[in-house]
Amino acid sequence: MLRNVAEGDIPIFFEHQRDPEATRMALFPPRDRDAFTAHWQKILASDDVTKKTVLFEGAVAGNILIFDREGKRLVGYWIGREFWGKGLATKALAELITEVSERPLYAYVATANVGSIRVLEKCGFTLSGHETEFDERLGEKIEEALFVLKS
Ligand SMILES: CC(C)(COP(=O)(O)OP(=O)(O)OC[C@H]1O[C@@H](n2cnc3c(N)ncnc32)[C@H](O)[C@@H]1OP(=O)(O)O)[C@@H](O)C(=O)NCCC(=O)NCCS
Repeated sequence: MLRNVAEGDIPIFFEHQRDPEATRMALFPPRDRDAFTAHWQKILASDDVTKKTVLFEGAVAGNILIFDREGKRLVGYWIGREFWGKGLATKALAELITEVSERPLYAYVATANVGSIRVLEKCGFTLSGHETEFDERLGEKIEEALFVLKS
């Protein structure tokens, strides 16, 4: 259900990331089309980012990434709303951590994002701590949990 990302997937990811319910859940403000396309061009060009498209019955259902932030290898994923509740995020993360041997892997998640926390726990991630930070794009303080996969 994971394959390499194709350029043609980016407009679909764009629609997923601007869904108001998803951005509220993830506490991640949407990018406009130009900013989003530029962001993904950088991802596609980077050997440091592991990136996969999540498929459901042949359709592009979302994406999953591993990238660097402040010396940590972080996991991130985004599933389009029409594909929620089918176990896709759990299956995608389980498959990715089987394919990729690097450890530890980390994930930041908004403390209210119970769905994403459940996905991480089902895949063996454990809570490592909480962080509150001022998010410049949102213009507000957000509370995040840091999860880790040690082995
Ligand atoms: C969070 C998200 C990744 C979940 O994807 P999904 O494919 O629907 O998740 P799954 O179907 O694998 O669900 C895994 C578990 O979480 C639960 N869950 C999923 N969404 C939930 C929600 N909104 N509220 C409560 N539980 C939820 C499921 O019931 C399931 O638990 P169970 O196995 O005990 O029944 C998806 O909603 C999403 O992409 N949201 C927007 C972006 C985002 O939040 N990304 C993560 C940033 S850290």
